[in-house]
Amino acid sequence: MKKPQFIELHHTDHSRVRDELLCGLSSPAAHTSPKYLYDALGSRLFEAITELPEYYPTRTEASIFALHSEAMAKHVPLGATLVDLGAGSCAKAASLFNRFVPSRYVAVDISVEFLRNALDCLQRRYPALDMVGVGLDFSAGLTLPPEAGDPQADARVLFYPGSSIGNFSPDEALIFLRSVRTACSTQRGSGLLIGVDLVKGTAELEAAYDDALGVTAAFNRNLLLHINRLCATDFFLPDWHHVGLFNTTESRIEMHLEATRPVTVCWPGGQRKFALGERIHTENSYKWTLDGFSELLHHAGFEARRHWTDPAQRFAVFWAGGQ
Ligand code: AVI
Repeated sequence: MKKPQFIELHHTDHSRVRDELLCGLSSPAAHTSPKYLYDALGSRLFEAITELPEYYPTRTEASIFALHSEAMAKHVPLGATLVDLGAGSCAKAASLFNRFVPSRYVAVDISVEFLRNALDCLQRRYPALDMVGVGLDFSAGLTLPPEAGDPQADARVLFYPGSSIGNFSPDEALIFLRSVRTACSTQRGSGLLIGVDLVKGTAELEAAYDDALGVTAAFNRNLLLHINRLCATDFFLPDWHHVGLFNTTESRIEMHLEATRPVTVCWPGGQRKFALGERIHTENSYKWTLDGFSELLHHAGFEARRHWTDPAQRFAVFWAGGQ
């Protein structure tokens, strides 16, 4: 049986993290990067969100793959290298192995530690498949190590499900997709398979990001506990209320934390006062139209484009081919 290879390319610079967070919190419109939502508890809360009745993206995307993976497979060359961006438990990609029959599976996530267990288990199920785990923060751009295969020799299929592209602004998404386009090999058949959440009615969107059970609220408020650990701030959870709203002008869900009373947050060497009702902007989740996303892929350099949706057009999976 083969063994997975692991490569760690991401090293956390704690003082940079602290500076970035405190700079965002101190600015007139306080904000933080959504990546800080995912400490160990935040990642588990996100898993729980995906099971909520209101959070339609995960199960809708799964239904699109269940119905259309045969059609998708016609675009994916046999024996390609499958590169899974934000692989996590690797379950989504693994469910497509029998259909896509890759010769190498490259799982990329922010930390190789998240991948170790999942890849070891997966290797037992697929003993002949080459597997590589890469610890990389690809949000700033995607540069794959040589262990991810020779892009001149093998076709590469990049896999980015879950509509995480929505957590980038349109400008950031374009830069990111250009780096994905560059990471696709020059071999025929290379391309990107990506999940995209679509624009829909405000009530349905806001329910998905402010569920009745309060799991999304817990996910958002847990950010403050994470920041307390990273920056020695003294955020006190009862002072902060979750807000999830759809901004129709920007076509994005916004998550905020809103002060329930006047609050002063202190940290070693600094403080920030928040008025009653003042907010910290914690996440954007952009919702695309089919035409808008197809155009974005075109601008990023993907010439061939196809998509599949559920019957209600809540969600889409796009195939974007290099040539
Ligand atoms: C990870 N990402 C695609 C989720 C989303 O829908 O934007 C994160 C999330 N935030 C709140 N609920 C889910």
